[in-house]
Amino acid sequence: MDLIIKNGTVVNAGGSFRADVGVKDGKIVCIAECIEPTGGAKVADAEGKLVLPGAIDAHTHLAMPFGGTVSADDYFAGTRAAACGGTTMVFDFAMQDFNEKMTDTVKRRDAMAAPNAAVDYSFHVAVKDVSNGLIDGIGECVDIGIPSFKVFMVYDFGVTDGVFFQVLQKAKETGALIAVHAENNELVKMFTQQFLSEGKTSAWYHYLSRPEFVEAEADQRAIEWAKAVGAPLYIVHLANKQGVEAVTKARDEGYPIYAETCPQYLEFTCDVYKREDGRNFVCSPPMKGAESRDALWEAIRRGDIDTVATDHCPFQQAEKDWGKDDFSKIPNGCAGIENMYPYMLSAANEGRITFEKAVELCAANPARIFGCRQKGEIAVGKDADIVIYDPVKEFTITQDKMHSDCDHTVWEGVKVHGYPVQTYSRGRLVYDNGAFVGEKGWGKLVRCSLK
Ligand code: URP
Ligand code: ZN
Ligand code: ZN
Repeated sequence: MDLIIKNGTVVNAGGSFRADVGVKDGKIVCIAECIEPTGGAKVADAEGKLVLPGAIDAHTHLAMPFGGTVSADDYFAGTRAAACGGTTMVFDFAMQDFNEKMTDTVKRRDAMAAPNAAVDYSFHVAVKDVSNGLIDGIGECVDIGIPSFKVFMVYDFGVTDGVFFQVLQKAKETGALIAVHAENNELVKMFTQQFLSEGKTSAWYHYLSRPEFVEAEADQRAIEWAKAVGAPLYIVHLANKQGVEAVTKARDEGYPIYAETCPQYLEFTCDVYKREDGRNFVCSPPMKGAESRDALWEAIRRGDIDTVATDHCPFQQAEKDWGKDDFSKIPNGCAGIENMYPYMLSAANEGRITFEKAVELCAANPARIFGCRQKGEIAVGKDADIVIYDPVKEFTITQDKMHSDCDHTVWEGVKVHGYPVQTYSRGRLVYDNGAFVGEKGWGKLVRCSLK
């Protein structure tokens, strides 16, 4: 064996138990009460610690051209930060260009990711153009192991209702999974113009131009269409209470509607937009009221939210400042890739959810829903993507301790109870007690299958 993690408590979505974990050639090869170290095996002592599957962040935007610039973390910086927060795989959004075959989109982004990624990665293709036969790219991507896609109902590159419907139909035909960013574009545009013409320009009006019902209405519409087509649907970054209710209702009726939320919606409320640094929190959908935040936690406990992912899309302070006098000029997105697992595990440590639930939301469910079966669990045969977590280590998040290239974080000053001490990516140590010890280009493209 190459590595033996001894004396820890293994936590999977399905339960916890004390065991040693043996790793060889990047895979977990043995789980037993006691594994005797042999040969040159490295030994990591996890006495008093939890041994967890690495998190899978199902929603990142690395090196993404957006909002008049490019998001601050490229594939190296983003995955370096991921590793340091216990995340061992990311699903990044590969944005299709107009007139571009979707398989070419994947190749173009993989050429950027492969030499840089420090942990494993895969893609969802963000669909923009299905004209002139480009819709067939959905089936072609399924065949090359990229079976998940996203449509945006907002932004200037968002799809029309008709295109969204066609994409759902093609997904049903090919076995793909469609994710949706649900907000009502027309209402957002109308409110934005109205507020700006009235001289209401602060970050608070970002929230008011996209309040609860703007997201809820789009959630409901997207769910209705998925039901009509008979296709599964994954709602990304769900942030509002009525949307949660719509998801719960559809699931109770037996429809395969999946929901993701993000740590920022579980921690913050729209009050952040009243702060002096409110523009740093501008993301879409925006943080909502406390009732929505509470509804998200309830849905997590009830099992109506499947995954927690970050929507990591940070921009530098100077870029956020473009919107000092006009909220519509603030590039949308925040950092979170290094904070998700510590935050959700801290919630478990505080008794808000169980550790098993945190693992289910951040590792097991993303692996299952997006079809990467070699990850998401500490089990024989799985990739040795492993986090050793110290439940008594106190940690205050500050920018200087983060490993992103972004110059600020919305998580500044937030305290978490418990913290990862080591992260292994396919058996290789990539994070050790505050330091990144991995390497550029170590991460591999993971091909997925929903069959
Ligand atoms: O504000 C956000 N969420 N930025 C990233 C793009 C998106 O909408 O997912
Ligand atoms: Zn989105
Ligand atoms: Zn996003």
